[in-house]
Amino acid sequence: MRTDYCGNINASFIGQTVTLCGWVNRRRDLGGVIFLDLRDREGIVQVVYDPDLADVFDTANKVRNEFCVQLTGLVRARPEGQVNKDMSTGEIEILGKELTILNKSAPLPLDSNQENSEEQRLKYRYLDLRRPIMTERLKFRAKVTGAVRRYLEEQGFLDIETPMLTKATPEGARDYLVPSRTHKGQFFALPQSPQLFKQLLMMSGMDRYYQIVKCFRDEDLRADRQPEFTQIDIETTFLDAEGVMAITEKMMRGLFNDLLNVDLGEFPRMTYADAMRLYGSDKPDLRNPMVLTDVAELVKNVDFKVFSGPANDPKGRVVAICVPGGAELSRKQIDDYGKYVSIYGAKGLAWMKVNDIDAGLDGLQSPILKFLDAKTAQAIITATQAKSGDILLFGADSNTVVTESMGALRLKLGEDLNLLEGEWKPLWVVDFPMFEEVDGQFYALHHPFTAPRDMTPEQLAADPGSAISNAYDMVLNGCELGGGSVRIHHQDMQSQVFEILGIEEQEARSKFGFLLDALQYGTPPHAGLAFGLDRMVMLMTGATSIRDVMAFPKTTTAACPLTDAPGFANPEQLQELAIQTVVKAEETDRE
Ligand code: AMO
Ligand code: AMP
Repeated sequence: MRTDYCGNINASFIGQTVTLCGWVNRRRDLGGVIFLDLRDREGIVQVVYDPDLADVFDTANKVRNEFCVQLTGLVRARPEGQVNKDMSTGEIEILGKELTILNKSAPLPLDSNQENSEEQRLKYRYLDLRRPIMTERLKFRAKVTGAVRRYLEEQGFLDIETPMLTKATPEGARDYLVPSRTHKGQFFALPQSPQLFKQLLMMSGMDRYYQIVKCFRDEDLRADRQPEFTQIDIETTFLDAEGVMAITEKMMRGLFNDLLNVDLGEFPRMTYADAMRLYGSDKPDLRNPMVLTDVAELVKNVDFKVFSGPANDPKGRVVAICVPGGAELSRKQIDDYGKYVSIYGAKGLAWMKVNDIDAGLDGLQSPILKFLDAKTAQAIITATQAKSGDILLFGADSNTVVTESMGALRLKLGEDLNLLEGEWKPLWVVDFPMFEEVDGQFYALHHPFTAPRDMTPEQLAADPGSAISNAYDMVLNGCELGGGSVRIHHQDMQSQVFEILGIEEQEARSKFGFLLDALQYGTPPHAGLAFGLDRMVMLMTGATSIRDVMAFPKTTTAACPLTDAPGFANPEQLQELAIQTVVKAEETDRE
């Protein structure tokens, strides 16, 4: 039906007759001539209709925005002064010779002249995706998956599919359950990741596996979390952590190089402990120049309980953040930051403005100055490398509250005050603890199949709290792009980890019996990683939410306004599944 894409027509086509199909982006009647901007996936081109061709002109007159048309015309240079340098087709226009209306369009429910609500955009997603910025994002996403496949296949990875109807895979979220009709009262779980299947494939000798695969997690949603999202899932045999990091880092560098012309360079490494200490986060945004400086040692003996209390408590922490240029902050701004940290449990936000660093205590301004002697104040300034014009913000509380609240504050200050430096800051975070202890119960920091670093099961059992795992996360600009680990490949170690996690032997057998069984048949050492494709594409396209790089995402309440899913099942379906629901249609809070 057509000879070319609209967006591909440029000066090299001048003098040629082309046939194009697409949607009318805009129609302008300039009294005597009609301009149509015709749009397809590849871009927009300007078409002009003169009244000399009465029939065609008449059709052009009837056309409205978003009509789907086919047209033929002569490509010609735009008259002097009308060249549009911002459009790839801006040097030319098409003199329309034929025009067929393929389909009319009702006025769109989305207004192209204003921001539409996300609810509205998702309800009419097929129209929202017509917007060039959305089309470009999906095209870019396809380029990423294409390049990923080419790279991994070159490296010997096999694309192998794994089941969607399966058993629970513990990645820390709730499962989406699917009732079984043939086994009444029983449920499949949709995979939170293909973790166990990819390990089984290594046991099968597939050597190198990859899959671009949907994962399902019923968790609280945010800008970078969706209930169903896509992983680039990777697993290898006979490679250690270094090997996996090398292959995947090369992949990421290649993608940025080829698709964005950006050289990410070699990724620095940071231990989990350093990341938490310096940045209050296990996914530090290194574009932000501020760090948390521990000052407990300096304030142990001050006459200010708020500081000296946590400073002398082994579970306490006292830190300062030096905000460049922050002496300009108003009282109201400082109070607002105080409110912000209170979300994370902080009880206050002490501050100290460094107005003139050479004037000793007189050059400082702070409500806590009365508690500090000149020597202590000077030591804090030296430790934080504060300069005249900066402000120091202090957090003092339990280690957890300070790390979390000041880590969050650091990010907020960086954004509010425009302090970010550099465009792309990747890194690997390594040496995670195996377990996190909450009220005497241990939880796996990655998943329970992650191997500890250099430990026997006996050593692990003796001191689980201090075990370091052989896991690694790839972080870019404060976003966790991917994570993985060396896996446990001995049954005794796997059983030991289950035991530490409080998974009783019987429960372990019923949940993971197949894995424990498989581990006895010559399981090779194996390791892998999974990237969040949506997050990767979000960062690469500059989108602010992964919803903007998914064709049909869910709302933040995990619903789909387009299809109106989820919906109630009809009574016959429920009967067949032997399911009774306790919520009736009229009781739901969804409309
Ligand atoms: P993990 O749970 O860290 O590891 O997931 C890997 C990556 O997937 C992305 N991701 C998400 N993206 C969007 N929405 C979500 N709800 C969501 N949850 C996770 C993140 C994350 O880094 N099986 C292991 C990997 C392994 O050990 O090989 C796993 O799933 O970018
Ligand atoms: P107060 O003596 O309670 O008025 O506190 C004096 C200053 O210390 C105020 O600026 C408070 O915001 C701050 N402050 C109080 N508690 C904390 C805390 N846990 N961490 C940091 N600053 C605090």
